Amino acid sequence: MKAIVYTEYGSPDVLEFKEVVKPTPKNDEVLVKVYAVSANAADLHLLRADPFLVRLSSGFLKPKHTILGSDIAGRVEAIGSNVKEFKLGDEVFGDISAGGWGGFAEYVCAREDALVLKPANLSFEEAAAVPMAAVTALQGLRSKGGIQPGQKVLINGASGGVGVFAVQIAKALGAEVTGVCSTRNVDIVRSIGADHVIDYTKEDFTQNGHCYDLILAANGYHSISDYKRVLTPQGTYVMTGGAMAQLSEVMLKGPWISMTGSQKMGNLLAKPNKQDLSFIKDLLESGKVKPVIDRCYPLSEVADAIRYLEEGHAQGKVVITVVQNNET
Ligand SMILES: NC(=O)c1ccc[n+]([C@@H]2O[C@H](COP(=O)([O-])OP(=O)(O)OC[C@H]3O[C@@H](n4cnc5c(N)ncnc54)[C@H](OP(=O)(O)O)[C@@H]3O)[C@@H](O)[C@H]2O)c1
Repeated sequence: MKAIVYTEYGSPDVLEFKEVVKPTPKNDEVLVKVYAVSANAADLHLLRADPFLVRLSSGFLKPKHTILGSDIAGRVEAIGSNVKEFKLGDEVFGDISAGGWGGFAEYVCAREDALVLKPANLSFEEAAAVPMAAVTALQGLRSKGGIQPGQKVLINGASGGVGVFAVQIAKALGAEVTGVCSTRNVDIVRSIGADHVIDYTKEDFTQNGHCYDLILAANGYHSISDYKRVLTPQGTYVMTGGAMAQLSEVMLKGPWISMTGSQKMGNLLAKPNKQDLSFIKDLLESGKVKPVIDRCYPLSEVADAIRYLEEGHAQGKVVITVVQNNET
């Protein structure tokens, strides 16, 4: 089968499009024929071993898993003897990062617990756009953020992979949502349901006098004291992404602020979770959440897809179409 392989850490230039052995599922795995797979910042971190600590879990000198790609959508082509939930031909999607990655390929083996049946109203590309970004948004808003209906919620970085899901999930959970993005993304963020949109090139939301019950920082940078100032007295700030300085500040100061006052400030390291993905599947099927795709690339051009993602200006998700004309 064809796959995108890397055997050393580096820029997207080290990615090779080559022939590799088609995998065979273990007892608790299914073999998925990959129709589409999306690119995430996590692929980039593993590709470049950046931050350096990535090497502790992913191979100190060279990558342990040589095929990246976590968010797959495809069709079950073979099943292990212990698999109960899926049958041949099922259309599935999921985040396979906990089981060894490998989605930038024509076939991949995945554990049963990483996969959920694909919503019938979504294309394979749309389904592949969902898992990691949407689960991160859900865990940031609900598990860590404790979102409640009627709350005022602000999403910084509302136009990116995580942000477009965060805006829609927060709306679906009954919040009044403010999305922060640049001028060119104002219409997109409004179209996915944000009640208010702040163009960060024209207005600084930390200086306009408004306060929020919950802030999800998906991108950009503001100091932790800026975020603290625009939280309500019982408010919660969850950092899921953005500048390294933003992460350092929340890791150093967040626990102290949370322990000594009524506001909660912390970061989230999202984990693949089948229940969370199933919850999102329901939102997708009901039309309350719709994937936003910026661009699609063929499998042979994963390096270009990752270069584009690395520029940091994707509008929604960047997706790889593995099987062309794949409508079913
Ligand atoms: N915690 C976790 O477990 C977890 C999981 C997934 C992702 N992440 C992290 O989350 C972050 C976002 O991921 P993503 O997939 O959403 O990234 P992304 O899709 O690459 O984000 C790009 C978007 O961010 C916007 N943006 C750039 N600078 C901004 C700023 N200063 N303020 C507001 N928006 C800005 C861009 O629009 P403009 O250029 O027009 O502003 C673009 O639409 C990354 O740092 C990633 O590593 C963390």
